[in-house]
Amino acid sequence: MSPAPGLISTDIDRAAQILREGGLVAFATETVYGLGANALNVEAVARVFAAKNRPHFDPLIVHVADASKIEPLVTRIPPIARTLADAFWPGPLTLVLPKSEIVPDLVTSGLSTVAVRVPSHALAQELLKRADVPVAAPSANPFGRLSPTCAEHVAESLGDAVDLILDGGPTTVGVESTVLDVTGSIPVVLRDGGITREEIEEVVGPVESRRTSNDSAPSAPGMLSSHYAPGTSLVLSEDADFESLAGRRVGVLALSTATLRECVPQVSFESVEVLTGDESLTTAAAGFFAALRRLDAQRLDVIVACPFPDHGLGRALNDRLQRARHS
Ligand code: TXA
Ligand code: MG
Repeated sequence: MSPAPGLISTDIDRAAQILREGGLVAFATETVYGLGANALNVEAVARVFAAKNRPHFDPLIVHVADASKIEPLVTRIPPIARTLADAFWPGPLTLVLPKSEIVPDLVTSGLSTVAVRVPSHALAQELLKRADVPVAAPSANPFGRLSPTCAEHVAESLGDAVDLILDGGPTTVGVESTVLDVTGSIPVVLRDGGITREEIEEVVGPVESRRTSNDSAPSAPGMLSSHYAPGTSLVLSEDADFESLAGRRVGVLALSTATLRECVPQVSFESVEVLTGDESLTTAAAGFFAALRRLDAQRLDVIVACPFPDHGLGRALNDRLQRARHS
């Protein structure tokens, strides 16, 4: 089904106006497309939760055009947060800070903290400047599903619920931002993402990891173990019973042809997605969600995914695979 005429657009002024008037705009960021609403307008934010079918206990990230714009949203900016903002903003790092009263509880799921981020994508930057409101934006996908990395992905899954999709082409980073809690003495990584731990530790020293998630009491709201999932069931190669898969329609996702050869036996597959020719994790991240979508569209019985090297962006990709396999 093709999207309604005008739904996918590059008209930044119209998008900014829709946001100011309480509407929903999906927009390109460098990580994934976001589903944005004026963060200070509770009704608009409620429409975001409804459009995604997202539970209210999962808080949203608030996007602003530059670091100075977070000041009204928070009560305190610890020195380490300033250091990180100087180093990585604009870019795929989200900082969790103590929230001020102007941020509606709906945005933060009643937490005393707010997650803030300054995206680097030129279109997102321009939109935030022209809208001149803080923009609450989760990834623009139905809750628990694969994140969208181009405008068409958004139109396919949320088309009817969005007033406009601001088309900035395919996203370059491809995985969501790293979420870092900087309210305590040592930063805590709540979600691995586009800025690697190695990069963060180079600037501020050691960081901690969130505790293992547990769905009945997530260590951070939204850190649910099943998330980012395709409709087709997904298994990691190390868990796959290849004999039992004989005769079934199997698709495989791998970093490179070399990792493909190492992680799956030589049987024929219906479909193979190899993400890189050179094992670059940056390239792999950029193509990751789109490749999973292509596999998901083929009515396979199962997707077998080969784990990524567990460093740099590979850590974020392994995290997404871990959560995708619960479907
Ligand atoms: O790259 C990204 O971060 C994209 C683009 C659109 O900016 N956004 C995104 O949003 O991935 P979302 O809603 O899909 O993921 C936000 C994550 C959730 O896991 C949520 O639980 C966490 O951030 N989060 C938000 N506010 C929080 C807070 N106050 N404390 C702890 N975690 C928080
Ligand atoms: Mg998301």
